[in-house]
Parts: sequence; C-alpha cells; structure tokens
Amino acid sequence: MSLLSHHLNNYKEFLNKNAPPFGVAHFFCLTLEMNCVKTIEMEFSAGDDMFKLRVNGKEHELDVAPDTPLLWVLRDHLQLTGTKYGCGIGQCGACTVHVDGKAMRACQMPIASVGKQSVTTIEGLQGAVAEAVFAAWVAEQVPQCGYCQPGQVMSASALLTQNPHPDDNAITAAMEGNLCRCGTYQRIRRAIQRVARQGKGV
Ligand code: FES
Ligand code: FES
Repeated sequence: MSLLSHHLNNYKEFLNKNAPPFGVAHFFCLTLEMNCVKTIEMEFSAGDDMFKLRVNGKEHELDVAPDTPLLWVLRDHLQLTGTKYGCGIGQCGACTVHVDGKAMRACQMPIASVGKQSVTTIEGLQGAVAEAVFAAWVAEQVPQCGYCQPGQVMSASALLTQNPHPDDNAITAAMEGNLCRCGTYQRIRRAIQRVARQGKGV
C-alpha cells in the first residue's frame, strides 16, 4: 500500500470511530491535505534512483526518478541546454540527440531506458561528419532564429554518418520529423546535399 493510501485509510477509520463534528472533520481534512503533500513528496523521492549516464564521453551519476525524460536530465541536471525543448511529445525534433549514434528524441526517452548507451548532444558532436555539417550549415546560411537547429544538425549528422550519399528520399525520411517554424527546410536540404557531395561519412 502506498503511503498516501495509508493516510486516507487512517482518515476513514478516524471518521468511522469518532464521527467528529463538521469543524473537527474540516480541520482533519486540512491536516490530511498537508500530510498528503508531504507524502507525495516522500513517495516521489522514495522513487528516485541512482543512474550512471555517459554523455559526450563523460560519465555522470544522477539521482533522479527512473521516468525522468533524458531531455530534462541533460538540460536541468547537466546544464547541456543546447538540446532544446519544443513540443515534449516527440513531434518536433528540437530535442534530438544521438544515443549510440542514432538520432533519438530526448523528450521521449526515460532515463531508465538509456542504460549503458552513449549519449551525444550538440555540445559534444565532433568528427569529420560533424565538422562538414557545421561548415555546410554556415556555407548555406541555414539558421534563421536558430531554435530548431541543434536538433536539425543532430539528425543530419546521424543520417550522413550512416549514409554518406543520401538521395532526396533518404533526406526527407531522416529529416521530416524535425520541424522548423522559420521554414529553413530548403537550406537544410542544400547543406546536407553539400556534405553528401564531399562524401564525409564513415
Ligand atoms: S521536444 Fe522532443 S520532439 Fe519536440
Ligand atoms: S531556424 Fe527558427 S525554428 Fe528553425
């Protein structure tokens, strides 16, 4: 039985045995409410766990609830704020990171599901493909407001690493989950094609 149910059962028992006047019951309700808040806090902290997480080549120990989204761990616990929060429901791609090299939505990954996999964020993205992507983004002057761009770069670099010469369909398939409210899609496509022409993939 959870602590909260335990409190509620005690309350019911108390009312059955004592049939208190309304004022007393009201006071008891207020006390119960305060206890519930404390209890809920206790239950949340009781559910926390220690997780080891490898991010950008560095190991971290984190005391968080198992269902904490990776996005919050990155932004709030590790201060890696390059990974953006857009929709929080896996629909915009702003939170894209690499998990063992694959583009994943950090808002949809509970910390408990990461395990021993390696996480790379925009801050830790490096190597020949990443450098080519950064250069192409500059050459094609891709960003406008810039908010979606870390996620776009993470998706593009995952694609170009796995497939150095993606055709139009492959680019569409890899990038269609990354939304850009500024409409930079054509420049993103040109930047990816620029890297593909250079063949920087592995
Ligand atoms: S914030 Fe994760 S997909 Fe939108
Ligand atoms: S550059 Fe503004 S949202 Fe994409």
